[in-house]
Amino acid sequence: MRDIIIAGNWKMNKDAGETAKFCGELKDRLADVSAPGLRVIVAPAFVLLPAAKQALTGSRIEVSAQDVSSHVQGAFTGEVSAPMLASLQVSYAIVGHSERRQYHAETNELVRDKVQMLLDHQIIPIMCIGETLQQREAGETEAVLESQLTGCLNGIELQTGKELVIAYEPVWAIGTGKTATSEQAQQAHAFIRNWLQARFDAQIAQNLSILYGGSMKPGNCEELISQPDIDGGLIGGASLKTDDFVSMVHTGISVLKKGK
Ligand code: 13P
Repeated sequence: MRDIIIAGNWKMNKDAGETAKFCGELKDRLADVSAPGLRVIVAPAFVLLPAAKQALTGSRIEVSAQDVSSHVQGAFTGEVSAPMLASLQVSYAIVGHSERRQYHAETNELVRDKVQMLLDHQIIPIMCIGETLQQREAGETEAVLESQLTGCLNGIELQTGKELVIAYEPVWAIGTGKTATSEQAQQAHAFIRNWLQARFDAQIAQNLSILYGGSMKPGNCEELISQPDIDGGLIGGASLKTDDFVSMVHTGISVLKKGK
């Protein structure tokens, strides 16, 4: 059975004090929560990764970066490398987020290099893909997903499928309050899993967690993650509030307990 992952992408929110406070509260409120098969992750800004790690010491909550350089080291001002993240024991990094694609012109080729770089340093990429509203309305959703998957995983080899996480984030649902319906999301997730099976193999496709992202919140989390191919959420806005985030972690546990 696949893990359920509840991951908070904080984007450019929370300073040092807020990070320490939020992580401390999370650690306390989730102290008794031990559900095999559940992974809880927070992704603060680069500079606050050590503060988050420190505040979460002794808890099972893991930390993710929001990006990584495609270069290993050298004259790349402003960049942060995979070895630097590994030296902080950061276990995950988000790559290919639509905001990086939109505001920093990131291409599938660049995302691919970042995925490879992370795999080479035993950091799990949370690789984001998803269509725009215009593409969905033009009936191009599957073609867009296919071309993103093909480009971002070009030449990438996986051993088990557990070393990579994919997040399906329809761009039109991010930060807009518009959530994909559970049917729309399930359909996209099933498409992604079938593609993975054809590109890799059935075992890898079954092991790999595919998260949904886009206006996920306590009110729609259960229905979304109860879908057969939705293995959790990559949550923006609602992950910034302790009550909401904790509530979605509990939803993850109850969905796991019910089995699906
Ligand atoms: P929202 O949950 O704020 O829509 O953001 C989703 C997202 O982009 C997570 O990476």
